[in-house]
Amino acid sequence: MIILKTPEEIEVMREAGRLVARVLAALREAARPGVATSELDVLAERLIRDAGAVPAFKGYRGYPATVCVSINEQVVHGIPAARRLQDGDLVSLDVGAVIKGYYGDAAVSFVAGGRPTRLQADLLDAGQSALTVGVEQAREGNRLSDIGSAIQRHAESRGYSVVRDYAGHGIGQAMHEDPQVPNYGTRGQGPLLRSGMVLAIEPMVNAGTFEVTCLEDGWTVVTRDGRPSVHFEHTVAVTEDGPDILTLP
Ligand code: MF3
Ligand code: CO
Repeated sequence: MIILKTPEEIEVMREAGRLVARVLAALREAARPGVATSELDVLAERLIRDAGAVPAFKGYRGYPATVCVSINEQVVHGIPAARRLQDGDLVSLDVGAVIKGYYGDAAVSFVAGGRPTRLQADLLDAGQSALTVGVEQAREGNRLSDIGSAIQRHAESRGYSVVRDYAGHGIGQAMHEDPQVPNYGTRGQGPLLRSGMVLAIEPMVNAGTFEVTCLEDGWTVVTRDGRPSVHFEHTVAVTEDGPDILTLP
């Protein structure tokens, strides 16, 4: 069942989303070569708690940290650790926070330190723009699959693949609500999008195969071919005026 949110609820979700966006911006600034990923986690938790909010991921199905830090061939759900970022690492950061019982969830990818390689820069641009074309479809009267279809067409037209095994999701008073929001598919399928729906749209775009596997730690998802991957996510409300991105600073 898809839970519709009132405009008042959407404003609370925007508070959570704004905090998430600010935390991501601070982490991105802090994510210099030599920084341990666990240090980014400590910073994120402090920023979230200082804002009177609660980390959304910590304790979720036993997840041990505030952020997910996924490097190079890691797709999502990398656990912060003693590992230090190296110049040229392709880093994805995923953050969630809860304010007054409502969730915000967003992710960004970037290269730590110096210049990205040509592949990294193009993959980042394709992933960011895949999210943009997906968000653009989050409007009244469209069908759910229009989002994934646009994302898939975009990523594949750039020569990349989209992960099938993980998807976006409805979000509200729980981090994961109906519907699942796949990043692939054919147009015109699934529920009609209506004003009041709030969706976390989160394409994972791989340089090589779309196939992924989970490491022994039970969390870290990596590409099967070891090639790099990027992840971008926004929490988006469907409104009468079109898509409203809640995870902006
Ligand atoms: N953005 C991810 C999601 O929506 C973050 C979940 S990480 C977890 O699924 F550790 F909390 F599972
Ligand atoms: Co999410």
